[in-house]
Amino acid sequence: MKKVYMDYAATTPVDKEVMNEMIPYFDKIYGNPSSIHGFGREAFDAIEDAREKVANLINAKPDEIVFTSGGTESDNLGVKGVAFKNKNKKGSKGYHIITSAIEHPAVLETCKHMEKLGFNVKFLPVDEYGVIDLDELEKSISKDTFLISIMFANHEIGTTQPMEKIGKLAKDNDIVFHTDAVQAVCKTPVDVNKFNIDLLSMSGHKIYAPKGVGALYVRKGVKLQTIVHGGGHERGIRSSTYNSPGIVGLGKACELGRSRLVKDMAHLKNLRDLLIKKTLNIEESYLNGHPEKRLVNNAHFRFTAIEGESLNLRLDAKGIAAATGSACSSEKLEASHILLAIGLKPEEAHGSLRLTLGRMTTKEEVDYVSGVLPDIVSTLRNMSPLWNR
Ligand SMILES: Cc1ncc(COP(=O)(O)O)c(C=O)c1O
Repeated sequence: MKKVYMDYAATTPVDKEVMNEMIPYFDKIYGNPSSIHGFGREAFDAIEDAREKVANLINAKPDEIVFTSGGTESDNLGVKGVAFKNKNKKGSKGYHIITSAIEHPAVLETCKHMEKLGFNVKFLPVDEYGVIDLDELEKSISKDTFLISIMFANHEIGTTQPMEKIGKLAKDNDIVFHTDAVQAVCKTPVDVNKFNIDLLSMSGHKIYAPKGVGALYVRKGVKLQTIVHGGGHERGIRSSTYNSPGIVGLGKACELGRSRLVKDMAHLKNLRDLLIKKTLNIEESYLNGHPEKRLVNNAHFRFTAIEGESLNLRLDAKGIAAATGSACSSEKLEASHILLAIGLKPEEAHGSLRLTLGRMTTKEEVDYVSGVLPDIVSTLRNMSPLWNR
């Protein structure tokens, strides 16, 4: 059976060039990078080389990069690290965090936890496309606001946020600006200086590096309290023995992502636009998320009278990997908090489908999916009392 992977927002395969770069660090250059002997020094040099490559991707300096175990840890470290550092400063920027209602659970659940610890959190609503309201953001800022955490691009609907304007508001009000850029890096230009970003989370497995490695950018001067105590690695911000192969892989993936950005973006946008055009030919099908301000690899649809899980299972039976919500929440059968936040009814949210493309996606694959989808939708509708009403 033909197999087509269209779930690159959930995870990506490891790029061959990334894998080749990593392999020696499993069995040849295996020294502990913190050891002072030659074995350790060789691994240390590779970590520092990777640090530079990660920094270059986002226009940061190498000593502003902290390696972590992935996007979730980077988000936790960014939000909690700043919050714990500020917690005793009530009345002087100590208690108020602003985030959005459509964050990934790595930020959303962290912020809800901060509420339980006594912090005051504002969850900004979004419009029908998933874009935050900048006036509402500005109105929400108080003298107690010390952190704004707004994602760069959404993992479900692909909508990108007005980063430059958020960054400026944060800077003008002397507030730390964290962004979850896990889905954005390598798919759109990300520049921490242009956007005034102070903290930025990224993850290896969304950019053709392995799972279990990521990074947090920490602007020089931004103080974090550690959440992983131990041997004092990463300037005391994040202890634990370095994951040398993973970090080397992340570095290579960032180097490749940077050099291929223009080419990858053009390739993805072409195929995504074709997929959207063909899919919207299906009767009563709609695009979720912003028509233009969206990631080049994201196509997110809803179909009247369709149950997303059934659609997904039928696509799977045709060898197509897709998603109904985010991979992280698809085991929960509740409607996605993101689709509800953009104003969809629960049944509309349940009738949604996410197709995300990657570097390896071909036009033939898009044609295959576009060919199969109308028949599946029509079969499911024929069985649905909602459609036959
Ligand atoms: C926007 C976003 N943030 C954070 C994460 C979590 O990253 P990781 O899987 O590396 O922990 C994901 C993963 O789906 C994501 O899409």
